[in-house]
Amino acid sequence: MPVIRFVREGRDVECYPGENLREVALREGVELYGLKGKLGNCGGCGQCITCFVDVVGESSPGSLSGRTAVEEQKLRRRPDGWRLACQALVQHSVLVLTRPQVGLGDAEQKIAAARAEALPAGPTAWPVSEQPAEQELETDPDSPAAGDTGRQSATSGEEA
Ligand code: FES
Repeated sequence: MPVIRFVREGRDVECYPGENLREVALREGVELYGLKGKLGNCGGCGQCITCFVDVVGESSPGSLSGRTAVEEQKLRRRPDGWRLACQALVQHSVLVLTRPQVGLGDAEQKIAAARAEALPAGPTAWPVSEQPAEQELETDPDSPAAGDTGRQSATSGEEA
């Protein structure tokens, strides 16, 4: 499983490959937003530009999915390492600094310490379930659905 190392918070959080960075952060109680984002954010649509993170290290290149078209537009005047958390999917372990626009007194030291500790590489696919999928839909294509029957009755009633 990939690990997201949140440098500001000093936390490592495990997630499934392909999970959305913003959703993992919110689930784990990691604060992504500054004051503006706390007062109102777009809920992950890539419109409010308040969920910045700075990618300060990767276990391998492409640890996050590539920049989306929204990010290309919205992050034109921001440093290259910045991403919108709501647009980034975690593929491999990664180090991020949340709220990079907010000062962090000993940022360089914290980032250096976080980089010094090895990150697991993480898989590139969802874990395979050991239990076979037993549940299949049991539907009879010849029997009408209950909703259709009700609709026919209602239609009949209107015509009468
Ligand atoms: S939550 Fe609004 S841009 Fe990411």
